[in-house]
Amino acid sequence: MKLFEESASSGATQAPGYDAMLASRKKNYLPLALYHDKPLHLVKAKGLYVWDGDGRQYLDCIGGIVCISAGHNHPKIKAKLMQMLEDDEIQHTSTLYLSRHLVELTEAMVERAPEGLDRASFTNSGSEANELAFMAARQATGENIIINLRHSYHGGTAATLAQCGHHTWRFRSQPVTNAVSAMEPYCYRCPFNQKPDSCNLECAKNVETTIQTATHGAIAGMIVEPVMGVGGFITPPDAYFEEVTEIVHRYGGKYISDEVQTGAGRCGHEFLLSKELGIDCDMVTMAKGLGNGTAIGGVLMKSDIADSLQGKMYFNTFAGDPMQAAQAKATMDIIAEEKLSENALAMGQRIVDGIQQMMANHPTIGDVRGRGLLLGMELVKDRKSKEHAVAEAQKVMDRCKDHGVLLGKGGLKGNVVRIAPPMAINAEQVDHMLEVLDRVLTEVENA
Ligand SMILES: Cc1ncc(COP(=O)(O)O)c(C=O)c1O
Repeated sequence: MKLFEESASSGATQAPGYDAMLASRKKNYLPLALYHDKPLHLVKAKGLYVWDGDGRQYLDCIGGIVCISAGHNHPKIKAKLMQMLEDDEIQHTSTLYLSRHLVELTEAMVERAPEGLDRASFTNSGSEANELAFMAARQATGENIIINLRHSYHGGTAATLAQCGHHTWRFRSQPVTNAVSAMEPYCYRCPFNQKPDSCNLECAKNVETTIQTATHGAIAGMIVEPVMGVGGFITPPDAYFEEVTEIVHRYGGKYISDEVQTGAGRCGHEFLLSKELGIDCDMVTMAKGLGNGTAIGGVLMKSDIADSLQGKMYFNTFAGDPMQAAQAKATMDIIAEEKLSENALAMGQRIVDGIQQMMANHPTIGDVRGRGLLLGMELVKDRKSKEHAVAEAQKVMDRCKDHGVLLGKGGLKGNVVRIAPPMAINAEQVDHMLEVLDRVLTEVENA
């Protein structure tokens, strides 16, 4: 607190000294991880670029964590929000009052939803969206058990962490109740030691075995990310979804498609990957790119599930407040007007092609996967043993940052470099990112 008062009174335009700020954060904030060997202090952003407190520019290829879909400080979003403030538009109403912005956002969401998902609701985050989906699945079915996948991530609240397939995220006191894990559809490291072209989708069949062996034979639902984000952009084969949704429905459950990372047009022509892949889902949850960085999450559901909530009070103080709702709607409009999904597909393919070419010179690249602009590059010490190259992935991320390119990291062991830039990235910026990656991989491999 004192540091910020000093900087304000001295008229400094930059934040207080970096070292003092880092020390203050470490002393006063919860001991939570920061990205990078030397954590970044980002202060400014525009389009694809962000700047640190010393004025250094970075090409942002991770967008917060997959939140910046339309681009940082998009002029249309800025103009919209500034006009709302200028007009003294009400900033907070709660869901108990009518809001034109919330009504317009709801209409736009329902319009883009997979067939039959004709009701929407909003939250402040992806975790809350998933919590609401769990409650709705339980309410609608009268059952309690939700199936998740090993390696999944669905949020940082008690109920969502209970469905998390990573020991690193779970708390010691984590109550894991009514949560059962099925095997991961992880083709590169198939838990059944199969090859994708001859596997007979054992991972999908395992959902049925899991229900038969770890539940009483009926479930409330199953939650699946169509591309498993925190897990390292694990990308199930298309056919996985048909088989799994059929099993979930046969055992009475509701299928929840967690599109917190894959949504907002990042992974296909459609706004939602569930629609693109024809996944027979009952609910879709969203957040992150939906609001281009503002704190909004959303749930789409079928009417029969929504109807089962009649008489219950689901209240959320900040859900769909006018400014968040307006920002999310403006983001949806920009994605459509600027054809950002088409661009994401084209640029995503350019990145995949570039990395595949690099594989000839970089033995640490074990796999490249993902959809659209949600891409993972899994690093291994040796392609045969597939030993996880954990330190190497950290170094690649840190050195890319030193060369002005921001990337993310994920996977159970942290050896997957994650690439998810704002969807407006162009070919020149992609090529620059690939050049830096190539140079950094050489540095790390030769070290
Ligand atoms: C797939 C997925 N679901 C849910 C969440 C939780 O979202 P939030 O952090 O907004 O609560 C995340 C966050 O990373 C996520 O990746």
